[in-house]
Amino acid sequence: MDDVKIGRRFFLKSGGAAAAVAGSVIIPIRNASAATPPAPGKTTLPYPKKAVGSIKGLPLNQAVSFAYPDDSSPCLAIRMGSPVPGGVGPNSDIVAYSSYCTHMGCPVSYEPGTRTFKCGCHFSIFDPENSGQMVTGQATEDLPRILLEYDAKTDSVHAVGVDGLIYGRQSNIL
Ligand code: FES
Repeated sequence: MDDVKIGRRFFLKSGGAAAAVAGSVIIPIRNASAATPPAPGKTTLPYPKKAVGSIKGLPLNQAVSFAYPDDSSPCLAIRMGSPVPGGVGPNSDIVAYSSYCTHMGCPVSYEPGTRTFKCGCHFSIFDPENSGQMVTGQATEDLPRILLEYDAKTDSVHAVGVDGLIYGRQSNIL
């Protein structure tokens, strides 16, 4: 291989400087929030917006099943018939909760006569008119509340979030 003599001026003009820059060390600047892991039980992922149904599809004082935020998370929506704190709809009476009992995850069922959720496994009772509050039984946590939005144009209700951790999960969004 023939040796080619290259002058210093030619070397710098023809890319030697670029090569020198390319060889320099680049230190990435990290986003401080990205480096911080989320707290257990919290999620940074957004909740989906899912249709629960129209007002006509929610019979008075009866539970209607749906799944939120994914298909493996059963929930129950009820149109109570009178305004409820945090309720949505024209009468502010529509609420929804995860149907997994917070004690050991058995499904709760709605009892129209007492207007409560009951768990058949160890007899916990929850109050849908008071934010899913645990009334009695083995459970120590309230039922996770499904956050709802009412769209007056379409007269429909959508699930948009969850207040509380769904039984058996480390994060509501998987
Ligand atoms: S699983 Fe519901 S009270 Fe035990």
